[in-house]
Amino acid sequence: MPALVLLGAQWGDEGKGKATDLLGGSVDYVVRYQGGNNAGHTVVVGDQKYALHLLPSGILTPECTPVIGNGVVVDPSVLFSELNGLNERGVDTSKLLISGNAHIITPYNVTVDKVTERFLGTRKIGTTGRGIGPTYADKINRVGIRVQDLYDESILTQKVEAALDVKNQMLTKLYNRRAIAIEQVVEELLSYADRLKPYVADTVLLLNKALDDDKVVLFEGGQGTLLDIDHGTYPFVTSSNPTAGGACTGSGVGPTKISRVIGILKAYTTRVGSGPFPTELFDADGDALRRIGGERGVTTGRDRRCGWFDAVIARYATRVNGLTDFFLTKLDVLTGWEEIPVCVAYEIDGKRVEELPYSQSDFHHAKPIYETLPGWSEDITKAKTFADLPKNAQAYVKALEEMSGAPISAIGVGPGRTETIEINSFI
Ligand code: GDP
Ligand code: IMO
Ligand code: MG
Repeated sequence: MPALVLLGAQWGDEGKGKATDLLGGSVDYVVRYQGGNNAGHTVVVGDQKYALHLLPSGILTPECTPVIGNGVVVDPSVLFSELNGLNERGVDTSKLLISGNAHIITPYNVTVDKVTERFLGTRKIGTTGRGIGPTYADKINRVGIRVQDLYDESILTQKVEAALDVKNQMLTKLYNRRAIAIEQVVEELLSYADRLKPYVADTVLLLNKALDDDKVVLFEGGQGTLLDIDHGTYPFVTSSNPTAGGACTGSGVGPTKISRVIGILKAYTTRVGSGPFPTELFDADGDALRRIGGERGVTTGRDRRCGWFDAVIARYATRVNGLTDFFLTKLDVLTGWEEIPVCVAYEIDGKRVEELPYSQSDFHHAKPIYETLPGWSEDITKAKTFADLPKNAQAYVKALEEMSGAPISAIGVGPGRTETIEINSFI
């Protein structure tokens, strides 16, 4: 049986948590393959709302095994508080598996994230401050700490020493901060080892065996395509690969096993943190999208920047991820606008440009070219089939599908599990 990838097609917060949860009942494994607790995935089940940061959304489905793959960065203190929070609400988390090769977000990685952002001042990325960038930097610099290192004290001490060697110089001499004591870090990390142990597994072997046994594996992306370190709006990106290829490197499952790549696409656009955003609105429409859509960050509580739908970005997401389907979310938020502008192309230095420019300077100068579609005023939150939608809402979806380059196979009309129109089945 095949593997499916579900990922963000824009700048994150598209509704990946809800979409993953919806499929949770039909899959055997839900795997996070990149990112860490910079993610904030909301799942609403009945009158219960869950905000998941590090844990895969599949943890809320009892039949499903949640997996944290090797490509994820794990902050053990966050992991435990998330597990405790779920246990207190009666969620069984005992099936969780964590790759021994996943890297650990150490306390000094969090410190470095915060001090470097402060140092950048107006040029800051607007990170979530969770230590994501510095942890991936340590991984690439080959001074990272992995989950498996917690089970060899002498190796762990050597590795922490190596990692802090340069960092302490930097902290004291450049940032005017106190040096971090090696023993204190080692002691803290070792204190997590016993509780973590039952979850640690060879997830590569396990997932490949599961696929050989016809089990269904769903990869749940964090962040989104335009936040990808390679394909996003660099340097205003996260430090991992949320795009489809990341599912392979971040889990050890080969690309031939993946049969479906689903892009989660909001019916308008949002972004958190710094960086270019051609369709961003600074007017009453932007405020209304933020208010009606509840566009406030799940992780940092920051207001999200809001704007109209950008088809250039959606086409780009189709291309770099090889998307087979879209899951269009939050269509209900657009109810009540008389007309809805959609960005179909950009104007850059007086020229019409149909595709995302590779040059960062060009993208910073891109002005949206809009086409305006007629809106609808009927409540769509109870719609169960495409035919239940008002004519203009149907036309909006069809127009987006045509512009974006992949079929829209599901439509979200509300935050709840059941507030979804399923057009083509995903599994
Ligand atoms: P994620 O990071 O991609 O999982 O998305 P977030 O959870 O950060 O943000 C999406 C928000 O939209 C959450 O509050 C969801 O409950 C909500 N949501 C998801 N789908 C829909 C939908 O179709 N309609 C409405 N109104 N809300 C939705
Ligand atoms: P989910 O999975 C939206 C943004 C941050 C910042 C940039 C880098 O909920 O969609 P980082 O802490 O990763 O180094 O910050 O990326 N960012 C997100 N924006 N949704 C997310 O996750 C994000 N995770 C990181 O705001 O601009
Ligand atoms: Mg989110």
